[in-house]
Amino acid sequence: MMRLPANIRRNLRLMRIGHILATHGLAALAVRMRLFYPYVWLVQLFRGDELPKDMGVQIRRVLEELGPTFIKFGQMLSTRVDLLPLDVALELKKLQDDVPPEPFKRVRRVIEHSFKKPLTGKEGVFASFNEQPVAAASIAQVHFAELKDGRRVAVKVRRDHISNTIESDLAILKLLAALFDRYFTEYKRLKAPRVIEEFSVTIRGELNLRAEAAHASRFAENFVKIDGVRVPDVLWEYTHTEVLTTERIAGIPIDEKRALEAAGHDCLKLCERAAELFFTMVFVDGYFHADMHPGNIFVADNGDIILVDFGIVGRLDLKSRRYIGEMLMAFLQEDYRRAAEVHVEAGYVPADTDISAFEDAMREIGVPIFNRPLADISIAELLMSMFAVTERFKMETQPELLLLQKTMVVIEGVARELADQVNIWMLARPLISSWVSRHIGPVGKAEAMAQELRDQLRGWMCLPEKIDGVLTRIEKGSVSFSTEPSRLPVVTGSMLVAIGAAWLAWSAAHQASTMVMMLAAILTGLGFILTLSRP
Ligand SMILES: Nc1ncnc2c1ncn2[C@@H]1O[C@H](COP(=O)(O)OP(=O)(O)O)[C@@H](O)[C@H]1O
Ligand SMILES: [Mg+2]
Repeated sequence: MMRLPANIRRNLRLMRIGHILATHGLAALAVRMRLFYPYVWLVQLFRGDELPKDMGVQIRRVLEELGPTFIKFGQMLSTRVDLLPLDVALELKKLQDDVPPEPFKRVRRVIEHSFKKPLTGKEGVFASFNEQPVAAASIAQVHFAELKDGRRVAVKVRRDHISNTIESDLAILKLLAALFDRYFTEYKRLKAPRVIEEFSVTIRGELNLRAEAAHASRFAENFVKIDGVRVPDVLWEYTHTEVLTTERIAGIPIDEKRALEAAGHDCLKLCERAAELFFTMVFVDGYFHADMHPGNIFVADNGDIILVDFGIVGRLDLKSRRYIGEMLMAFLQEDYRRAAEVHVEAGYVPADTDISAFEDAMREIGVPIFNRPLADISIAELLMSMFAVTERFKMETQPELLLLQKTMVVIEGVARELADQVNIWMLARPLISSWVSRHIGPVGKAEAMAQELRDQLRGWMCLPEKIDGVLTRIEKGSVSFSTEPSRLPVVTGSMLVAIGAAWLAWSAAHQASTMVMMLAAILTGLGFILTLSRP
């Protein structure tokens, strides 16, 4: 098939986007973004039919028409409750990426191209391969197969050419975001280009099935410490960027309560396990499965919880974990003053924030939620409202925290289905509470200090390279110093300190003689004196 040059294709695509926007009542948007606006304007003028008045519905329909990348983008946006009006977010949640499965010959092509071998047969990769997929989504689909040694496996295969499609869609999205940012100045705070940037990272991550295999193996290690939770083994020699082969697992999806009960599973016990799983991933490991919908969670015959699908993981550093832990505990104790303070202490809101007003804002969110019956208390909902409020208080919501909030929504839903008389947060509370007291107490503080020290040292160790860079640039003449007489000693002094310190670090690392170290120390000291001396 002849392919048009990329820029022509892009323009045609943009034109189509303008057309779709106009035919869904969003012509104003296209016109303001200068997307072929005389044309768009005409389309709008001549269309007499009733268009949906609801902005959310309009946006959802446009995204549906634009295909998988845009649908995924909409799904991601639906979790950005800190950015979008709630009704739009709720409408976007309805986006489903149900797509027809890929024809089998293309699946075969991808596998054979990856392994440079026929799919089956004497020289083939597999002993047998089931042509009928067990599941199909926009990026990949899963088939069952059997290895030569008889092991039963599940093979996730990426759609043919999906990478190209997604890359060109991302380029379009990037352009649209830039136009939006430029022409909708009142929405600059949405930081559209940055949102697209983050989305691109996520979706590109999902494209690489070897990366997914790596996530799976890290979870396998992390879950050793939790009783009754596991993931399927990855078969690395049958895995490639476009093909992920895992041990086939059997189990009942976790949202099929009747089937679970019929098989004799204790749903309350499963709920407790889910609480422990969530706690361990988030607090102990700071590495969580961020796509925990029921289609990815199975219960094995022996009652083990098995997770599949590791395309999206969330990472939380110790600082964010401490913040979340303290904040959750404050809310669970209905201590709104503390909930407010935690934000300031973590440096998420400016230190000069009016703490009393912030406390009231926390109270306004918390009280209605905690007044409900226990089973209806939703911490995910609480966080969602909280991110909307903290935005008002100039807190920039971290993408990882939003991912966590989204995961909490799903986990809450799963737990509520399993056992509606308990609340997962009450099950997780003692675990979180003891984690917090261990990490906030003296030991925790000492650990935090040690970590900071390590980071500082790492910075010092990089000094020699940095100095080398500066020296090279000086040699090339690409660095100029202002040589006003009063600044000269400061500049020279700082350089002496830097060189002396680097020399010191180097000689310490190489166990150089005391003499050498003393020379280095003297040089550093000289540098200090020069820097501090006032002209
Ligand atoms: N190891 C496995 N054993 C059995 N079934 C699996 C396995 N891996 C995936 N599946 C099935 O395939 C479906 C889709 O796989 P998943 O990894 O979730 O892909 P997607 O990212 O497209 O959702 C799962 O919901 C599950 O039913
Ligand atoms: Mg899945």
